[in-house]
Amino acid sequence: MPQVTAVSLQGQATTDDGQLTTKSTMEIVTAAIENYLIRVTPQEDPILKEMEARARETNFPIVGPLVGRLLYQLVKLTGSHRVLELGSGFGYSAYWFGQALGDSGELILTELLEENLALAKDSLERGKISSRARFYQGDALETLEGLEGQFDIIFNDVDKHQYPEVFKRASPRLRSGGLLISDNVLWQGKVVEGQPDERTRGILEYNRLIFESSEFFSSIIPLRDGISISLKS
Ligand SMILES: C[S@@+](CC[C@H](N)C(=O)[O-])C[C@H]1O[C@@H](n2cnc3c(N)ncnc32)[C@H](O)[C@@H]1O
Repeated sequence: MPQVTAVSLQGQATTDDGQLTTKSTMEIVTAAIENYLIRVTPQEDPILKEMEARARETNFPIVGPLVGRLLYQLVKLTGSHRVLELGSGFGYSAYWFGQALGDSGELILTELLEENLALAKDSLERGKISSRARFYQGDALETLEGLEGQFDIIFNDVDKHQYPEVFKRASPRLRSGGLLISDNVLWQGKVVEGQPDERTRGILEYNRLIFESSEFFSSIIPLRDGISISLKS
């Protein structure tokens, strides 16, 4: 069985056979099951593989291939055309969204750091999906204020203390039947540990908000670091 050789932020780890897995203060999915899921899942796109390798080498937290596939499926299931990402990093999750959207779709990437956005542009261009993408550098919530119209999906992966603010500001911008999706909502198991730090408090409050809201029907999938899917009524 592959052994974990490196652990990054947000529970992502590298095993000695080069796969991404989850290793954290608390195991959300056992390493054996996570490795099985990764092995059994086809992973063919060379650009995605290259991005996964970059994440391993730089310990950069990406959603990984299992969640990536789920994002792709959610676009297809909802017939989504317009997707907004809050916190795009170097474009890995955006690449999955972009592939699912097709030529008529619109994908908006937001990212604080210019160097990340440049890498995202390069990957999406090489994957021939950049024509459906728009790139915004700066704070994602400020960018959101300047964007027109509603979205079919808003995917949230910004700093965790901002999650409650994301809920308040992103919710009105979703169409009826749209999805608010957030990564890391189990936060390496810290959501059930005592003395939560600022980021954990942000996640706890976010999870409370999505389940208490009468406007949303929400689930948390305990895949990798936990992903929430909230359907707007
Ligand atoms: C977890 S990474 C994103 C990974 C990406 N979603 C993926 O799976 O490929 C979080 C990214 O969000 C960016 N970020 C954090 N807070 C942000 C904010 N308020 N506005 C824009 N970007 C933000 C960080 O610079 C970082 O690149």
